Amino acid sequence: MSIFRTKNLDAMVAAGRHPGGLKKVLGPFDLVLMGIGAIVGTGIFVLTGTGALTAGPALPLSFIIAAFACAFAALCYAEFASTVPVAGSIYTYSYATLGELVAWMIGWDLMLEYGLATSAVSVGWSGYFQSLIAGVGWHLPDALTAAPGAVPGKETYFNLPALLIMLVLTGMLSLGVRESARLNNVMVAIKIGVVLLFILVGARHVQPANWQPFMPYGHTGILSAAALVFFAFIGFDAVTSAAEEVKRPDRDLPIGIIGSLAVCTLLYVVVSGIMTGIVPFKQFQGVDHPVSLALKFAGENWVAGFVDAGAILGMTTVILVMLYGQTRVIFAMSRDGLLPKRLSSIHPKYGTPFFATWVVGILFGLIAALIPLDTLAKLVNMGTLAAFCLVSVAVVVLRKKRPDLHRAFRCPGVPVIPALAVICCLGLMTYLSLETWLAFGAWLLLGLVVYFGYARKRSLLN
Ligand code: ALA
Repeated sequence: MSIFRTKNLDAMVAAGRHPGGLKKVLGPFDLVLMGIGAIVGTGIFVLTGTGALTAGPALPLSFIIAAFACAFAALCYAEFASTVPVAGSIYTYSYATLGELVAWMIGWDLMLEYGLATSAVSVGWSGYFQSLIAGVGWHLPDALTAAPGAVPGKETYFNLPALLIMLVLTGMLSLGVRESARLNNVMVAIKIGVVLLFILVGARHVQPANWQPFMPYGHTGILSAAALVFFAFIGFDAVTSAAEEVKRPDRDLPIGIIGSLAVCTLLYVVVSGIMTGIVPFKQFQGVDHPVSLALKFAGENWVAGFVDAGAILGMTTVILVMLYGQTRVIFAMSRDGLLPKRLSSIHPKYGTPFFATWVVGILFGLIAALIPLDTLAKLVNMGTLAAFCLVSVAVVVLRKKRPDLHRAFRCPGVPVIPALAVICCLGLMTYLSLETWLAFGAWLLLGLVVYFGYARKRSLLN
């Protein structure tokens, strides 16, 4: 019962290459759109508020730093994900290469990442939803607007809209409704549209005096904000999960990943610069819809309404993508015997992991209702950064262990790029709070207990 036992990699590779496999239809442009669809969401529409409070007007620098960490890690991620061209997540790949314990820990970590990310984006969704209905004079009772302690000076107990959106999307997903490529393109157009609208209208209201002092909290503020707004880049792995369907993965995957990261970085830098140019950054305290708030501050109420609506649609797609990813990780782990069998049962009529989807939806919906956004986002970042470190190391290890493997995409500059990825990710992790470290440590510890107490004995590899 070795903790290093692996699934048969060559069998998996062969299974992924069978002639009846997925059609290779995607080009670089499709991949960039796919990436943007999965990336742009709560990070830019909501976390920029807390980011501005942390870094001041230097917030665009935080985005650039986070983008670099992400780009290095993304290249490693792409190699790892494209080595075994079967649809799935890094959990599956690591099971075949690094052994059961590492795979389990990565899967356990991904459950945290995807699960809490859906919660976090639902909270962001809720903020914009409330801003939109406030435009027509509707308000929820204070108690139901946010998690306990989320808004300083306001008695809040439960974020009702965040729970409701999770339940609605869980229902859709459990019935087999999935975002199609066409719907994704429409959503991306809307998202980019409202962001450009904000830039065009907002730029006219910038008061350069608001950018002074530029770095009120010095480099510590900038790096702490980078560790938070890193959240805004999460989701590009959607691109790597399509590796099997790409026409020329060696060329198109890096274009898709780096391209979508570059477009998002540009948008984030410009938007955060304009926001802090319109509103003196201290006024973002306790605000959960900072982008539309900036427009209202400038007297552009109509445009703010459009931005609210676009942000709501945009965040909806991000929740769907993450929720889907979450259920598929749990499904894979359960199929391998590491989690209870029930979680990989398929609904006879809808053909979806119905039970697992609802378990996840209800659990993370309640978490969205009860925990403030910043806490959630930091935990997600911690989990993601840790996964990136593991994956970057894994790329180097695999090159040594299995040089013979066919890699649809090879990370350039190994081992320098993986080393830079690890350094940047660890660096950002050190700027997350002690509570975040403790919570993450507790989650990992729990993972080890469950592995040695349950999963190891039940694994199908026995
Ligand atoms: N990057 C995604 C967002 O900002 C998770 O919503």
